[in-house]
Amino acid sequence: MVHSPAPAAAPPEHSDALVLFGATGDLARKKLFSALYHMEAEGHLGIPVVGIARSSWDQAEFHAHIKEALAATVTGAEPGMVGRLLSLASLVGGDYADEATFAALRTELERLGAKRPAFYLAIPPDVFETVIQGLSREGLTEGSRIVVEKPFGRSLATALELDGLLLQHFAERDIFRIDHYLGKESVEDLLVFRFANTLLEPIWNRNYVRSVQVTMAERIGVEGRGAFYEGVGALRDVVQNHLLQVVAMLAMEPPVSPQADALRDEKVKVFRAMRALDAGAVVRGQFEGYREEPGVAADSTVETYVACRFDIDSWRWSGVPFYVRAGKAMARSALEAVVELHEPPRLLFADAEMPPPHPNLIRFRMSVPDGVTMTVQAKHPGPELLAEPVDLAVDFGESLGKRREAYERLLGDAIVGDARRFARQDAVEATWRIVQPALDDPSPVHPYPQGSWGPPQADELLAQGHWHHPQ
Ligand code: BG6
Repeated sequence: MVHSPAPAAAPPEHSDALVLFGATGDLARKKLFSALYHMEAEGHLGIPVVGIARSSWDQAEFHAHIKEALAATVTGAEPGMVGRLLSLASLVGGDYADEATFAALRTELERLGAKRPAFYLAIPPDVFETVIQGLSREGLTEGSRIVVEKPFGRSLATALELDGLLLQHFAERDIFRIDHYLGKESVEDLLVFRFANTLLEPIWNRNYVRSVQVTMAERIGVEGRGAFYEGVGALRDVVQNHLLQVVAMLAMEPPVSPQADALRDEKVKVFRAMRALDAGAVVRGQFEGYREEPGVAADSTVETYVACRFDIDSWRWSGVPFYVRAGKAMARSALEAVVELHEPPRLLFADAEMPPPHPNLIRFRMSVPDGVTMTVQAKHPGPELLAEPVDLAVDFGESLGKRREAYERLLGDAIVGDARRFARQDAVEATWRIVQPALDDPSPVHPYPQGSWGPPQADELLAQGHWHHPQ
């Protein structure tokens, strides 16, 4: 019997306005206005942007705020393009708890002729419900999209609650959960590099790979976000979401099609095969001086550093530890994944007392400038047949040109309804399931000096070898 392919679904419609809740907030100032500027410059925006904020600003003040943000975040912003972005931008001010705010938003959307807006919640999660109820009361959720910034809950239970709330008002295909790491081209490159290079796939498994290390290090501390960070900590802030997504990209099987769900299905399989973290697989640290930060408790045990070992019980990865660490106030900023292959056997031509050659490393450098470095062995100059590690390195910026920023790509995707680079609810739940035991039963927190690589106790997590610090 011949199966005919399923008829292709009609392409999703383009949103006809972007409504930005949290328009006067930190994220908007640091990342979102620059993303909108670049989108407009590249012809990917072209729809009205309505800012909503609890502020008494008028339009002129809102425009001045956008201009200031662009001056700080876009090098060489062109005045003509700034003007074009401002001509698209308007502000609706008002409290989220006030019904009049949503009535004013409806009026503004009617004035703009917008019928299928995308609502972007760049606001603290404790006001999500108030905002969604407000939109719903005005009949604004029908046919609209909702874009939600992380965190998606602060535990498995609260993630389920949030999902319940979203699904009451929006269809799953209209919900876009932002994990901005999924929008980073350097992170997406993990998939391309793995699956477009035949030389890697045969060795990408437990037979050749000894361990995988993922490091997200930030030089900055909590920078005035102490009060927020106290309720979060590194495990919730970046491991449950960003870094587990990176692990999934490193560990997943190739998706069966380019469709969003095919990609997301493979990631979920990795999470399902991953063992839940117990406290013994987690080392927590806190940088010295964190307790003196504004908004931080004098006896806080919140971790600003975490190192964990994840185990994936799959045919491909059984027995291969995936070490993940993330920290604030570290020696430098970097996002890297290092795949360490097994040590080769002692070289036939080396003396028995000589150490075996170093294992090969494949290092994905995912912060700016991004690239890949492969550490291989080559003959050391001299009479002996000795091996010495050398790096084969490529800088993608130099070789391939400039990358687009994560938020620019993600907002562009959300307004055309492309869900590939967004987190799906089952993955969100699966990742909470993995980290929840370590959250419920936290291990002790060890101090570490600012500007270091974290507490020495993290070294004990590694069964063998050492941490590969970013280059
Ligand atoms: C955010 C975290 O999600 O990611 C921050 O809440 C962190 O604490 C930030 O600083 C890091 O993002 P990036 O893109 O600079 O690696």
